Amino acid sequence: MKEQSFNRVVIDPEALRHNYSLMKRLAGGRPLMAMVKADAYGHGMIVAARAFAGAGCSTFGVAELREGVLLRQAGIEGEIYVTLGFPRERAEAILEHRLTPVVYDIDTVRLLAALASAAGREVAVHLKVDTGMGRLGLLPEEVDPFLAAINGLPGARVAGLMSHFPEADVAGSASTLHAIATFSEVCRQAKSRISGVCHIANSGAVLNFPASHADMVRSGIALYGYHPAGRCPGGPASELRPAMAVRTEVVQVKTLPAGSGVSYGHTYRTDGPTRLAVLPMGYEDGFSRDFSNRAAVLVGGRRAPVRGRVCMNMCMVDVTAIDEVSVGDEVVILGSQGGETISAEDLAEWMNTISYEVLCLLGNNNQRDVSEEMR
Ligand SMILES: Cc1ncc(COP(=O)(O)O)c(C=O)c1O
Repeated sequence: MKEQSFNRVVIDPEALRHNYSLMKRLAGGRPLMAMVKADAYGHGMIVAARAFAGAGCSTFGVAELREGVLLRQAGIEGEIYVTLGFPRERAEAILEHRLTPVVYDIDTVRLLAALASAAGREVAVHLKVDTGMGRLGLLPEEVDPFLAAINGLPGARVAGLMSHFPEADVAGSASTLHAIATFSEVCRQAKSRISGVCHIANSGAVLNFPASHADMVRSGIALYGYHPAGRCPGGPASELRPAMAVRTEVVQVKTLPAGSGVSYGHTYRTDGPTRLAVLPMGYEDGFSRDFSNRAAVLVGGRRAPVRGRVCMNMCMVDVTAIDEVSVGDEVVILGSQGGETISAEDLAEWMNTISYEVLCLLGNNNQRDVSEEMR
């Protein structure tokens, strides 16, 4: 039997299915690639992929080859895009597992083409174009020479062009309008050489820029229930449902007299008799040290502020104002209890980051409870 940890990540597959259906509707019914990289933003890649498949998804996006292989080994069908690349010496795994590689250099295409034609097969690749992200991909002017160079290469076929926005979470952003125009032009020109699928829209673009939806969209954060810009500004995105909850429990309750220091460095000192609950949750568990003296958790349906520095495996919260707190009581780090909620946005603000990072940290550093249905 697997030993239980105090800390548990609970995923709601129904919320994942709901979010998938909502985003698909907002994308006008186009194919929607579910981004399940980074262990599905902390939700568990296989659990999440199964939930999205249950809502009709047949296209998945991961960063690395290793993730694509895990999905196939778990029996996930459909297309799996490997968007970041793969070690050259593992290129044959792309063919073996029928993965769709995203490419941005000719040597990779030649290598894949050679392997595929030796096996009497053809590999479909998608070409990454950098339309202003300043990250991975060919510059727009490099696309035509690239396509010309691999034209007629046996064993490989360019089945699509893709790009990525730096600022589509900001409605009306000039950089997004510029990238849409650039990508449309690149796709228009490429269509004389290839017949393929063009895709650029992420969650922000699905919500804010209908003109970017092209032949397919790709969504990550919205599928997990959060707006890419942070607090949801209203509109259809307010129907998104967060799918992750993180819970722990009280391991000790103690009352310190006025003037006592709490935790390393004594960065908090009690201003009166103070009841503290000690929690088995620290930065090792993704509960960042940035939460020291800033964050709150839910105990008995009320917010209890973090006192002093977050330690590696523990932190202390102030429960002076909360009646009858005992060892073993449930504590909500992320999610709802009673009428109160702590969202990934709340945690992101306390940590000066974005919900994406909070979900990855908490989800990937704690034991996940997986319902029977998703095993
Ligand atoms: C290439 C690519 N497409 C789509 C996405 C999904 O973005 P979002 O989570 O903002 O929807 C990502 C995530 O970073 C990405 O790297």
